[in-house]
Amino acid sequence: MTGTPLDGVRILDFTHVQSGPTCTQLLAWFGADVIKVERPGTGDATRQQLQDIPGVDSLYFTMLNHNKRSITIDAKNAAGREVLWRLIRECDVLVENFAPGALDRMGLTWEALQAANPGLILASVKGFGPGRYQDCKVYENVAQCAGGAASTTGWRDGLPTVSGAQIGDSGTGLHLALGIVTALYHRTQTGRGQRVDCAMQDGVLNLCRVKLRDQQRLAHGPLPEYSQFGEGVEFGESVPRAGNDSGGGQPGRILKCKGWEQDPNAYIYFITQGAVWEPICDIIGEPGWKTDPDYVTPKARLPHLNEIFTRIEAWTMKHDKLEAMEILNAYDIPCGPILSMKEIAEDEALRASGTVVEVEHPTRGPYLTVGNPIKLSANSVSITRSPLLGEHTDEILRDVLGCSDTEIAKILGSGATGAVQRVAAE
Ligand code: COA
Repeated sequence: MTGTPLDGVRILDFTHVQSGPTCTQLLAWFGADVIKVERPGTGDATRQQLQDIPGVDSLYFTMLNHNKRSITIDAKNAAGREVLWRLIRECDVLVENFAPGALDRMGLTWEALQAANPGLILASVKGFGPGRYQDCKVYENVAQCAGGAASTTGWRDGLPTVSGAQIGDSGTGLHLALGIVTALYHRTQTGRGQRVDCAMQDGVLNLCRVKLRDQQRLAHGPLPEYSQFGEGVEFGESVPRAGNDSGGGQPGRILKCKGWEQDPNAYIYFITQGAVWEPICDIIGEPGWKTDPDYVTPKARLPHLNEIFTRIEAWTMKHDKLEAMEILNAYDIPCGPILSMKEIAEDEALRASGTVVEVEHPTRGPYLTVGNPIKLSANSVSITRSPLLGEHTDEILRDVLGCSDTEIAKILGSGATGAVQRVAAE
């Protein structure tokens, strides 16, 4: 017992790529014992994807698999299957994000799992829920397109656009983690496990909730907070792409700051919140707008947003983004600099809060990762490196299954685990 929030919870982590690993990494950060089951020889395909250093686990893999242990098991080998079933009896949750049907093809049907371990929770990510696309394989951008994000992102006269934020993969992993802890809580009352299913399309749509709101508002007239309203461009049948307009009732835009000609990120997001309209007018040198009937109320301003933001931009272009932020913050004007990944990686406050963390890895050396963004007041999280392929195979066979040395040698010799990687004296 270590006193972590999920102490005593054991997860059989059959996940790969991004969506599932995001979920199990979070549970590992909260103290669950996450046993990552990988295919002998190759492991999670991301170990080899986008490799920056030849022969070394990629950052794609290391940044999604912290605080886990790795065991290699060939689920299609008889001895491997036996080990797998023994582990299933010892675990509280099985998490997987294989293509539809793959788990059943391994013989791990819900009925068989329940018979072996009635308290087991089976948590799955799939691209789509029940319906015409249920058998499809899905990656991030497919989910962003099918979940309504792409059709509502970008510019009105441009292509549908996907976001750099991985709302399909990591977003669905977050949803799944919440489903798992909810099912664990429920199990404390009933003793029974259940299935937790998250479809990536559903997860993306949940995050695009405000756009479905706007779809229904369209039936009652144009959407006045969208720039096209002020530009006199008619609305069609579906929610249009709104560029960088802010989604809520407080109009906002991305505006140029000093140096924008050279620096692709010399911009600031500026929100004309109603409560601070007067200081905004003073700062940009338009004190008359404080009483002018065309500008005095948020509603009156809506048809003039282009003119207002052009005027504000004439002010922001005289300041660099951090200086503008400082001046505006003094008046509680909501704004935010556009930060590059380089600036974020170097940000001292993010390092101090444990959101950006440097981790040491035996074959890679030090690298940066994103720590746990969910902070619990009673439990700090220490981020430990991702495991090498099969690194903990013997340890898991011994500690979790109680195997003797002879039994371990027999399993390793059976071809069920393949060659495992070990750390050369750390
Ligand atoms: N031992 C033996 N076989 C193993 C194994 C192991 N330890 N681990 C995986 N496999 C096998 C599976 O059984 C499957 O075999 P089968 O097709 O013969 O049944 C095979 O590996 C491939 O699995 P699959 O999930 O189909 O991988 P893929 O690389 O072809 O597809 C995805 C990848 C992500 C497209 C797919 O897994 C998917 O759609 N997942 C659900 C949605 C999702 O999470 N997408 C986002 C990923 S970030």
